[in-house]
Amino acid sequence: MTHNNLKMTKIAIFASGSGSNAENIINYFKNSGTGHVSAVFCNKKDAYVLERAKNSGIESIVFDRNDFYETNKIVKDLESRNIDYIVLAGFLWLVPENLVKKYENRIINIHPALLPSYGGKGMYGDNVHKAVVANGEKKSGITIHLVNTIYDSGDIIFQAETEVTPEDDYKSVAKKIHELEGEHFPRVIEEHIKSLQ
Ligand code: GAR
Repeated sequence: MTHNNLKMTKIAIFASGSGSNAENIINYFKNSGTGHVSAVFCNKKDAYVLERAKNSGIESIVFDRNDFYETNKIVKDLESRNIDYIVLAGFLWLVPENLVKKYENRIINIHPALLPSYGGKGMYGDNVHKAVVANGEKKSGITIHLVNTIYDSGDIIFQAETEVTPEDDYKSVAKKIHELEGEHFPRVIEEHIKSLQ
């Protein structure tokens, strides 16, 4: 597909959970000349993101641990759909080397904290916000970064902060973080794609 003579970039979203970011990205790229979401890849067959993909008319591919780590299935599924970029939107498995190499600088993750703080294995979703509140942090935020083979350690593309007050609990922090994610993530993906065109 072309738009203004530029190739439309094809994006695959990888998600494991509710998929509010996935839905937001899908909608954003419906009105973007830069790219569109071609497929949602999901490692949990009952994840709500699958419902969202279906409602948006986006193909979804469900895979298991063996497919991801022991075979070339995912690479083939991406290749056959000519996917240019991978966006991790609440995807909780470490990405294997074959994918990281194939999509060097073209896998983008969002993390719900200000990396390098509160990153690493087990630090996802509400676990992050609970740790932030337990430590009495005065701020938290989001980090959008490139993905390598070590959890949450690739080059940072963008960060945004929000205040954490003594009145906050992990749920109110989660809400603030989701708002930041909604505001920034799709646009930052688009800008990163444009910067490599
Ligand atoms: C998001 O807050 C995202 O930052 C986080 O999971 C949530 C998914 O929400 N990702 C991680 O914790 C990755 N380590 P969603 O499914 O509603 O988009």
